[in-house]
Amino acid sequence: MKQMPICTPAESGSSSKAWIVHSLVAGVAIAAAVGAHFVFANRLLGLGKFRSRVVGIIPARYASSRFEGKPLAQILGKPMIQRTWERAKLATTLDHIVVATDDERIAECCRGFGADVIMTSESCRNGTERCNEALQKLEKKYDIVVNIQGDEPLIEPEIIDGVVKALQGAPDAVFSTAVTSLKPEDASDPNRVKCVVDNHGYAIYFSRGLIPYNKSGKLNPKFPYLLHLGIQSYDSKFLKIYPELPPTPLQLEEDLEQLKVLENGYKMKVIKVDHDAHGVDAPEDVEKIEALMRERNLS
Ligand SMILES: *[C@@H]1O[C@H](CO)[C@@H](O)[C@H](O)[C@H]1NC(C)=O
Ligand SMILES: *[C@@H]1O[C@H](CO)[C@@H](O)[C@H](O)[C@H]1NC(C)=O
Repeated sequence: MKQMPICTPAESGSSSKAWIVHSLVAGVAIAAAVGAHFVFANRLLGLGKFRSRVVGIIPARYASSRFEGKPLAQILGKPMIQRTWERAKLATTLDHIVVATDDERIAECCRGFGADVIMTSESCRNGTERCNEALQKLEKKYDIVVNIQGDEPLIEPEIIDGVVKALQGAPDAVFSTAVTSLKPEDASDPNRVKCVVDNHGYAIYFSRGLIPYNKSGKLNPKFPYLLHLGIQSYDSKFLKIYPELPPTPLQLEEDLEQLKVLENGYKMKVIKVDHDAHGVDAPEDVEKIEALMRERNLS
């Protein structure tokens, strides 16, 4: 069967040149639309590596409905926030790491083990807002902010570096994050967020439900389902506008903040990593982490 062209291609050499110019203009328009026009300015001015200045921010608050004082919980003799910070220190892409908190107890503890601390206001409604406030208060300018969840004490530094490099390598994206293989037992857990990506590794959608949904109504043992991990990095210009974007319908329905990014048409780069998610949500998770660390001879 003959393939029908969707539209007739232009014939002469001069018009193919016209197409190149046209696509260049379209490329600039698209990049500008996603707020990344400065990419081209940087390239034209020869300013070197794109989005090279990177800060890692660990947002930490004391109050928590499920686990009061969580960042200070002891895990094999060290506060959880210190464990997270020590892991982040091993990442090679971060120029600077700070803990952002509204609590003097957390701040004091962090200064004690040598971390830089930025005090943020109690009115921050979530970690993203806290990162944004901390970014504004930092003396130096940064191009990328990595939001490192304080309750993932076993986060691999390679994953931190991975999301940073993903954002540096995708100028049309304003956001990057990581996924890993979903375990079958997590398939119907709404607290385990699933993700689907396109052929180029950009996020299409996130859901608390199982996506994609097999026609049979059952889990397909052969499908490589993806579990979203909490780590994310943002273009710092995007981070400034992100909290102010009004809530969107899908975000509200699923209660997933990152959907706001996609619903507004921004691009999000996703990397797939090998990682056992061991977030600490409740006091009983501490023992699980400790057991795992003993098993792996981590101290
Ligand atoms: C659904 O899952 C089954 C395996 O359980 C697989 O054979 C099938 O291709 C999947 N897709 C559809 C549309 O059934
Ligand atoms: C975090 O706060 C901002 C408001 O600044 C809001 O837009 C966003 O949806 C919030 N995210 C969550 C998960 O509540």
